[in-house]
Amino acid sequence: MRTPRPLLPLTTLAVAASACLAAGAALAQGSGPIKVGLMLPATGTFAALGDMIEKGFKLHVQEQGGKLAGREIQYFRVDDESDPSKATDNVNKLIRRDNVDVIVGTVHSGVALAMARAAKESGTLLIVPNAGADAITGAQCAPNIFRSSFSNWQPGYATGVVAAGKGYKRAMTITWNYAAGNETVKGFTEAFEKGGGKVVKELSLPFPNVEFQALLTEIAAQKPDVVFAFFAGGGAVKFVKDYDAAGLRRTIPLVGSGFLTDGTLEAQGASAQGLITALHYGDNIETPRNTAFRNRFAVAYKANPDVYALQGYDAAQMLAAGLAAVKGDIGKKDALIAAIRKSQIDSPRGKFTLSAQHNPTQDFYVREVKGNYNVVTGVAVKALADPGRGCRM
Ligand code: BEZ
Repeated sequence: MRTPRPLLPLTTLAVAASACLAAGAALAQGSGPIKVGLMLPATGTFAALGDMIEKGFKLHVQEQGGKLAGREIQYFRVDDESDPSKATDNVNKLIRRDNVDVIVGTVHSGVALAMARAAKESGTLLIVPNAGADAITGAQCAPNIFRSSFSNWQPGYATGVVAAGKGYKRAMTITWNYAAGNETVKGFTEAFEKGGGKVVKELSLPFPNVEFQALLTEIAAQKPDVVFAFFAGGGAVKFVKDYDAAGLRRTIPLVGSGFLTDGTLEAQGASAQGLITALHYGDNIETPRNTAFRNRFAVAYKANPDVYALQGYDAAQMLAAGLAAVKGDIGKKDALIAAIRKSQIDSPRGKFTLSAQHNPTQDFYVREVKGNYNVVTGVAVKALADPGRGCRM
C-alpha cells in the first residue's frame, strides 16, 4: 500500500492559487489579447438591443484591423436576460471565472446597477453602452465606470423641453415601473413643468409587461393634451401599435424619449408615423462621420444601425482612446482612466465629451418618424450634461 502524500497546508494552497491568478492577470494585462466581457441581453424584450450593441462594438474593432492599440481582442459573452435577480451571478462569471480586463454592458438599468456594484468592488473597468440608471454616474459613480450612452434623466428632460415648447399644458406619463421608466419620467416632468406644463397623472406597469389596455382606457378618459411614454424594444413596438389601435394617435399626441421608435419602426409600421421623440441620435445626421458609420455598418451587417449600435460603437471608441494612451498596457489603469475621462469622442452622433462623473455631455435632437426613419428636425437641447447628483469621486 502506498503512503498517502502529505496534504499541503491551506495557506500554501492559497498562496499558490493567488500566484497563479496574479500570473494569469499579468498575462491578460501586459500581453496577449485584451479580454472583453460582453454582458448583454440575448433573449427577452431587449434582445435586439443587445445584438445591435455587440455589432456596433465589433464594427469599431474591425475598423481598427481587429486590434486596439496593437492588442488582439478576445470576447467573452453572457446573456443577462434583462433579469436583475441574476445580474450579480452573471457579472461575476466575467470578473471571476473569465478574469476579463473590461466589461461592456448592459441594456437594462436594474441589471446595470448590480454590474456597477461588482465593478466598483473589483476595480474592473466597466463601460455601459446603454442602461441609463442615473446612479451609475451619480451616487454609485466610480473612477473605473464609464457610460457611452446617456443617463435616464437626459432624454426625459430633452423630451420635456420639446413638449413644453409645443405649448402642451396637461400631460400624462406611461412607462414600466423600474429605474429607467421612473427616472426618465422624472426628467420629463422637471423640464415640462419648468416650461409651464403640469404632469397630471403617472401610469405604469411592471417590466416587461405589455398589457396596456386598461391604461389606454384611462388615458382616453382623462384626455390630456399630450402623453409621454418610455418603452423600448419589443415593449415599444406593442405600445405604439396598441396606442394607435385604441384610436388615440389621432386624438391625443404621443411623445417619447427616442427609444419608443428606435430600432422598432419596421415592426411599428403606420402606427408610428409622425411620432415626435427626443434622443442623442437620429438616422439622417448628414456628417461625413455618420455617413461613413452607416455605410460601414450596412456593408458589415446588411442592416441599418440604430441608437444601440451607435452606443456600442462609441463604447469601443472610448476603450480605444484609453488603450492608445497606455500603448495597450491595460494594467496602467490610472492613466487609462484619465485618458478616457479627457477624451473627445468623434461619434457619428456628433462629438461628445465626458462629464466629471463619466457620462456623455451631448446634444439631444428632436426627431419625427417618417417611413422607417427617425428624421432629425432640430436640436432640443445642446450639450446637455447630466447633473451627476450624489457622485463623489
Ligand atoms: C434602461 O433600462 O436603462 C433602458 C433600456 C432600454 C432603452 C433605454 C434604457
